[in-house]
Amino acid sequence: MKILLTGGTGYIGSHTAIELMLSGYEVVLVDNLRNSKASVIDRIQEVSGKRPSFYELDVADYTALNTVFKQERPDAVIHFAGLKAVGESVADPLLYYQLNLNTSINLCRVMNDNNVTGLVFSSSATVYGEPERIPLDEDCDATRAANPYGRTKIMVEQILRDLCNAKPAFNVALLRYFNPAGAHPSARLGEDPTGVPNNLVPFLTQVAVGMRNELVVNGDDYPTEDGTCIRDYIHVQDLARGHVAAIRKLEKNCGLVTYNLGTGKGHSVKEVVAAFERATNQHLPKTIGPRREGDVPTTYTDPSLAERELEWKAELTIEDICRDAWQWQDANPTGYP
Ligand code: NAD
Ligand code: WQD
Repeated sequence: MKILLTGGTGYIGSHTAIELMLSGYEVVLVDNLRNSKASVIDRIQEVSGKRPSFYELDVADYTALNTVFKQERPDAVIHFAGLKAVGESVADPLLYYQLNLNTSINLCRVMNDNNVTGLVFSSSATVYGEPERIPLDEDCDATRAANPYGRTKIMVEQILRDLCNAKPAFNVALLRYFNPAGAHPSARLGEDPTGVPNNLVPFLTQVAVGMRNELVVNGDDYPTEDGTCIRDYIHVQDLARGHVAAIRKLEKNCGLVTYNLGTGKGHSVKEVVAAFERATNQHLPKTIGPRREGDVPTTYTDPSLAERELEWKAELTIEDICRDAWQWQDANPTGYP
């Protein structure tokens, strides 16, 4: 079986490529390197012992993508390519709607024209917006996202539902990730954000390595036990295994399925900082700042549907996430070469 990964040199795509190859799949990576570097491919080869094929192209370019499909004849696709920064999406919504929708629609057209009907889509827990209940399960209203980025995920989910209704041969898994974090335990792959990290864990590792002066905790007056926001952090290795499980699900002709991928456990910002300090044996400079606009106090998933239907469960802890994220940052202070 051959799996094509759009956005395959990105953070989650690169870790998933390794898990797929170690599980016996052939892998083809497609990426325009807008938010990743080609040297990731050397690292994937180093860790997995195999070099995936790679095509540098824009997923919104029909001719270029169609040519790759004709040449490689993939059996299924995982669609990671897209933009993911919430703040940027508020500042430049048209960029987000154009890129995240065009890449997805074009990919579906190319798949359809080449009779490739298995697709895993990177959705996000952000589709739930302000949670209607906690823990969040897949039946919760998934149209409440509070920013353009999240709304692109809602829209692509809807496009894929409509596609499956129109063309029953399609099998699609919508995976709603909670908070992916951590790095490959080899310290050869990890998260390599451009500019100031938006997310908590890469910010922490950059403070620890001396690239940033201090962590600013975004508010400690939320209605949670210690006043800081609670999230469901999932190790990128668990997430990568979740994609392998989703690919296996497609092989069973599942139609359209939707899964939350998270651990089911929430950790506050203060708990993550404490876990990071324990895992790295260092004390981090930090201050309390104002709330960040758009943050909800608490979200975490009910992971039981994915457990039952994908036979997959997150196994790694927040300590594992902090240790692996730190080892990656420590060994690669400026990210990928
Ligand atoms: P990433 O930025 O590391 O990876 C995305 C990749 O897509 C990058 O390598 C980028 O160069 C590529 N890309 C962007 N536009 C492209 C285009 N037009 N053509 C070809 N390649 C293109 O991000 P990630 O963290 O690996 O996220 C992967 C997916 O998961 C995204 O769709 C994201 O929205 C989703 N997601 C991420 C998170 C998270 O916190 N990391 C959470 C939920 C969902
Ligand atoms: C976690 C907590 C921050 C940085 C985002 C996207 C979501 C999904 C995952 C893609 C919050 C606090 C952070 C800092 C802090 N991505 N924080 N100081 O916001 O839950 O989710 O990434 O789909 O769509 O919104 O994750 O890591 O940004 O923040 O105090 O310097 O850490 O305010 O409470 P979030 P995060």
